[in-house]
Amino acid sequence: MSQATFAELGLAAPIVDALTAAGYEHPTSVQAQSIPSALEGQDLLVSSQTGSGKTAAFVLPGLQKLLTESKISGRGPRMLVLTPTRELALQVNKAAMTYGRGLRNLRTLCVVGGSPYAQQLRMLERPVDIVVATPGRLLDHLQSGRIDFGRLEMLVLDEADRMLDMGFVEDIESIVARTPETRQTVLFSATLDGVVGQLARRLTRNAKRIDVAAPARESLIEQRLMFADDLGHKNRLLDALLRETGLNQAVVFASTRRSTEDIAQLLADSGFAVSALHGEMHQGQRNRTLQGLRDGRTQVLVATDVAARGIDVAGISHVINFDSPRNAEDYVHRIGRTGRAGRTGVAVTLFNHSEAHRVRDIERYTGKPIEVSTIPGLEPVRRASSSKPRFGQGRPGGGNGPRRGAPSSGFGANRPFGGGDRGGFGGGDNRGFGGGDRGGFGGGDRPHAGGADNRGFGGENRGNRGNDRGGFGGNDRGFGGGDRGGFGGRGRPGSGARQGRG
Ligand SMILES: Nc1ncnc2c1ncn2[C@@H]1O[C@H](COP(=O)(O)OP(=O)(O)OP(=O)(O)O)[C@@H](O)[C@H]1O
Ligand SMILES: [Mg+2]
Repeated sequence: MSQATFAELGLAAPIVDALTAAGYEHPTSVQAQSIPSALEGQDLLVSSQTGSGKTAAFVLPGLQKLLTESKISGRGPRMLVLTPTRELALQVNKAAMTYGRGLRNLRTLCVVGGSPYAQQLRMLERPVDIVVATPGRLLDHLQSGRIDFGRLEMLVLDEADRMLDMGFVEDIESIVARTPETRQTVLFSATLDGVVGQLARRLTRNAKRIDVAAPARESLIEQRLMFADDLGHKNRLLDALLRETGLNQAVVFASTRRSTEDIAQLLADSGFAVSALHGEMHQGQRNRTLQGLRDGRTQVLVATDVAARGIDVAGISHVINFDSPRNAEDYVHRIGRTGRAGRTGVAVTLFNHSEAHRVRDIERYTGKPIEVSTIPGLEPVRRASSSKPRFGQGRPGGGNGPRRGAPSSGFGANRPFGGGDRGGFGGGDNRGFGGGDRGGFGGGDRPHAGGADNRGFGGENRGNRGNDRGGFGGNDRGFGGGDRGGFGGRGRPGSGARQGRG
């Protein structure tokens, strides 16, 4: 958290007023560090924790540019934001409207797959200031000459690493090749290793690296893991978890389209207000589902990783990984759907006994052990196949009841895996958000959003990235439905890879 004001960062009154109206009192750390440089026109490469306010960090400088007339005539956008998923594009577009409500005649447009083509074409005939897009559909419009980037001043890649994982690299390169050399480029990514780093270097010039560090504090996301004997056991655990007191809304992550639907059906039968979300649904349905969650009509969203990145819904108190995530990065992003903007949250991951190695991968990545917990009466009968002590003290599968507050001995101390410490809402000065009545925002001594250790950066398991992610294209791509598929789950490799793309 920064003590500066938005005005002190250099933002103009119409923007500051809109932020005040939105209840933002002070910039977050990533905002305080990014906005002044972005206003100066610098290229930026930014990493910061989930829920730490990155959207405003790039939208606000973009809006400020719009306060000055473009010297170039034309009707194309002056700011372009690329995101990996349609849902995220819609959310960023909405944020731009919220933050830009003080700008006269601001026109923003969301260009994503799954929306009626003809309607998008009509919208593109009029001048537009900001376009928020998924790469596939945008490229279609570019190739048919419907969007002109002559006026483009600022290009933003949000969740750049994810876009590359989803196979968007060529699309991104083709899009960028059509933008003016003079543009400013701002890239947000959980990592700048490997291909993302290479892309970042190709797209930016003398970019400033902003890697927001938070004080080494406990995360506001309480993380637990449970071992499950079989599917029936998992279902019983899920049911019990969803009845936990203190649960407001939950996102349950499953690995395939099919399992999201099966789980949602079971939960509906048990009386939960539940919806499924995956990349093979029609876009209208996807939008309605997310809207139901935002409105509070839906209590439980059962989703594939289509909901893992960027999605911001204040009411999500719990994330439950019904199926464990493919890798540690996905874990961090999934659990980051709760505990946002200084709030607290609970994240519970169910593992099969054969998945103890995955637990270790995650722990290495985040730099701290996840507490093993059980629910009385629902303890696992079997034991983890590799129930070696984790960091000298864990007993995966052990039925001793919750091990709250287990010491994080041995790992956090050395932090050999690099990094961690991503800044959330806090900054060096340990202040909260300043707002008195918003959960977790006020107060001088509140722990920070997400806390220190959620995001290891660099480090050993990054070496595996290629492997984990490499398999992704083969398994998950080409699922017709979504933003390049990728979300629908396993199997059926190659079934129409570019169909219905984002
Ligand atoms: N300065 C601020 N004061 C109060 N609330 C803020 C501030 N900046 C952002 N927020 C709120 O914090 C929440 C998280 O913001 P945002 O979605 O931009 O985070 P993010 O860093 O992009 O997260 P992710 O990594 O998950 O994409 C949003 O609800 C947003 O309205
Ligand atoms: Mg974001």
